[in-house]
Amino acid sequence: MTKKWWHDKVAYQIYPKSFYDSNGDGIGDIPGIISKLDYLKDLGVDILWLSPCYQSPLVDQGYDISDYYRIDPRFGTMEDMEELIAQAKKRGMSILMDLVVNHCSDEHEWFQKACEDPDGKYGKFFYLRDKKEGELPTNWRSYFGGPVWEDLPCTSKQYLHVFHRKQPDLNWENPEVREEVYKNMNWWLEKGLGGFRVDAIVNIKKALPFHDYPADREDGLCSINAMLAEAKGIGEFLGEMRDRTFKKYDAFSVGEVFNEKPGEIPDYIGENGYFSSIFDFNETIFGGSEKGWYDSVPITPDDYKNCCFESQAKIGDTGFLSNIIENHDEPRGVSRYIPQGDCCVESKKMLAALNFMLRGLPFIYQGQELGMENVPISSIDEVDDISARDEYKVALEAGLSPEEALKVIARFSRDNARTPMQWSAGKNAGFTTGTPWLKVNPNYTSINAKAQMADPDSVMNFYKKLIALRKDPLYRETIVYGALEPVWQERHNLMAYYRKGEYTLLVVGNYQREEQEITLPQGYQKVLLNNYHDINEDSGCIRLHGYQVLILEI
Ligand code: GLC
Ligand code: CA
Repeated sequence: MTKKWWHDKVAYQIYPKSFYDSNGDGIGDIPGIISKLDYLKDLGVDILWLSPCYQSPLVDQGYDISDYYRIDPRFGTMEDMEELIAQAKKRGMSILMDLVVNHCSDEHEWFQKACEDPDGKYGKFFYLRDKKEGELPTNWRSYFGGPVWEDLPCTSKQYLHVFHRKQPDLNWENPEVREEVYKNMNWWLEKGLGGFRVDAIVNIKKALPFHDYPADREDGLCSINAMLAEAKGIGEFLGEMRDRTFKKYDAFSVGEVFNEKPGEIPDYIGENGYFSSIFDFNETIFGGSEKGWYDSVPITPDDYKNCCFESQAKIGDTGFLSNIIENHDEPRGVSRYIPQGDCCVESKKMLAALNFMLRGLPFIYQGQELGMENVPISSIDEVDDISARDEYKVALEAGLSPEEALKVIARFSRDNARTPMQWSAGKNAGFTTGTPWLKVNPNYTSINAKAQMADPDSVMNFYKKLIALRKDPLYRETIVYGALEPVWQERHNLMAYYRKGEYTLLVVGNYQREEQEITLPQGYQKVLLNNYHDINEDSGCIRLHGYQVLILEI
């Protein structure tokens, strides 16, 4: 495998709106990020992915862009962005922006012009269809609920939006659209970006001509996935994008890819793949249902283990997965993957180590390094996330009581990850001196960065050790490139694997509160990491404490 500059890095996702507010308006901003660069450097991360901060009406919190060449004033100025890139570079870090090009905002100039003249140049930037009374062009359901078709204002046409109605899909079949996208990407790469995280990209190729699919809910609509499964030829777009942009800059790119087929892995992330990496979503999609969040099955420790190993086996050494515990679209990983009632410092560290040591590129989402947890909600009115609001309706329509529906939302709402970063035990968790745009998780008095910095046994200090281990000149090659081999996979509530390279490392986690015994096939040389202060062992037999995790050099 050809070595790349980003292989041995650790990435960190920033959700700018909730990271740090520098001017007291309750909204996190770019100067706020700049002021925390030393914190990030100290943590040990190298690549910073920023969720969108372009000009946007923020209907989908920035994933609805109205100008790809501007920074939204709520987040700062273009000078701030340039300063961030420069300051990061000074510290040996690189910045990724979020590339949101399946759709733009309905407030983008292109869309405005399409409304003025649907038969002109910009009409062809979107998917427009003639409006027919009492009939939609197709029966597809948007990801955020309701049909994907909406009237194009002041015209006799309708436009397609697979996400919110304020996110019209761009027509990638039109070469002019693609040219505009590449031009913008190169413009940003010229500014010194390290690359992009590529949003919702599997949606850019539609199955043409459009047609209906069998309805999968009472509403008579069908999931977008039915159409995507039929769409062929996305590789032509993605290969062109790679050649025209990333490749010229040796940029890092990580795709939000859900539905690749096994044979396509090399096309996506092989030697000359479309992207540097793709996220592993196997754990996040586990138990999901086409019916909605209310119908999903919770994940158990054994499921979690099997999902991780399945992804690892699928990729092998074809390329690099990007491993996550959570992101801005998911609940907090510790609340999801640790059995209810067991979320504690030890279990959080165990989950961290099991995930971090997988083969691939570790991504940490802001606050994950503190073990931030889901936020309690008492009413749907408190919820900002448009997806959660829709899922609440879906749950009610399926017959759940308002209390039950609210429980579902509390489990899955994207707000869980979007509450302000918990910097200190001070007012508003030290996030803002004003009123935070989204309520702070009340547990900030005990879970916050300031307290954890001072505590050698904190979750944060454990993450620092994991990062330092990945960078240790002795073990780096093994951790970055070594093969992954599951051990004792059949054992209940135990997740263990070898990383084999120049060294052989054993990562083993007791995924339960009860103790559990393992017998090592051979002795070990050294304990590289332990989330407890002791190891209870007797001649090759180790009695693991509840949620104990060990990284051993064999
Ligand atoms: C991606 C983003 C999500 C957004 C959607 C539409 O899934 O991660 O936050 O809502 O795309 O852009
Ligand atoms: Ca601000």
